[in-house]
Amino acid sequence: MKKIFAANWKMHKNPCEAEVFFQNWSEKESKIDSDNCEIVFFPATLCLETSSRLLSGKKSKWGAQNSFYEDQGAFTGENSPMTIKQMGAEYCLVGHSERRSLFFESDELLSKKIAKLQALDLIPMFCVGETLEQRKNNQTMDVLKKQVVSGLSLMDKNKKLILAYEPVWAIGTGVVASLEQVKEVHQFLFSLLSEMKLQDKVPILYGGSVKADNAKDLVKVPHVDGFLIGGASLEVNSFYSILQTTEFALT
Ligand code: PGA
Repeated sequence: MKKIFAANWKMHKNPCEAEVFFQNWSEKESKIDSDNCEIVFFPATLCLETSSRLLSGKKSKWGAQNSFYEDQGAFTGENSPMTIKQMGAEYCLVGHSERRSLFFESDELLSKKIAKLQALDLIPMFCVGETLEQRKNNQTMDVLKKQVVSGLSLMDKNKKLILAYEPVWAIGTGVVASLEQVKEVHQFLFSLLSEMKLQDKVPILYGGSVKADNAKDLVKVPHVDGFLIGGASLEVNSFYSILQTTEFALT
């Protein structure tokens, strides 16, 4: 399985800044070993046209941070998954904790989004994770199980999907989960996927304050198939330095 390095830019960068990033990225990109790893950028919606233009034909893939479950209609402010597909995207984030907590996206809504994306042959990158309170109350595995089982309830098992474990308390906080915590959760998610006969098909990424100095060890944890990276993906050098810490990502 290829390791996946995904960049979640959240609501950062305008189209000009995205263009400058991708121009600078193209030199680094030539060193990436695409037999061993996949790079995916998730720019903000208003930068998707720029991404489509600058990443067309490149090794790096891209996708949207959010899309709706209908192709078109009276849904003011939403992103059409069909349009995202037509623009050349291959991926879409689903259920990032900021979508769940700030925009009240429910498990049911997320399951519909996943089904729609898969129907269009877009690859959902489905995020799950517990809050600090849930971890303190020993609810981590129950919360994750519920998120996975309900989120994947309408999934097409013959189509691709990526799972991203992002403990909410580690996102943007500089607090990274310990190797032991990551190992425990990824083992749990792997077993859960095994029960669903999906263990060989669904990569499991870790996300939450990933940087070059912690990526080096995290990438060696069993069942960590890559990373979803926020803050450290905003600069070419900090994103590239994460790839440099691994032994397989560069030629
Ligand atoms: P972070 O964000 O790397 O800045 O913690 C990760 C994410 O939200 O996907």
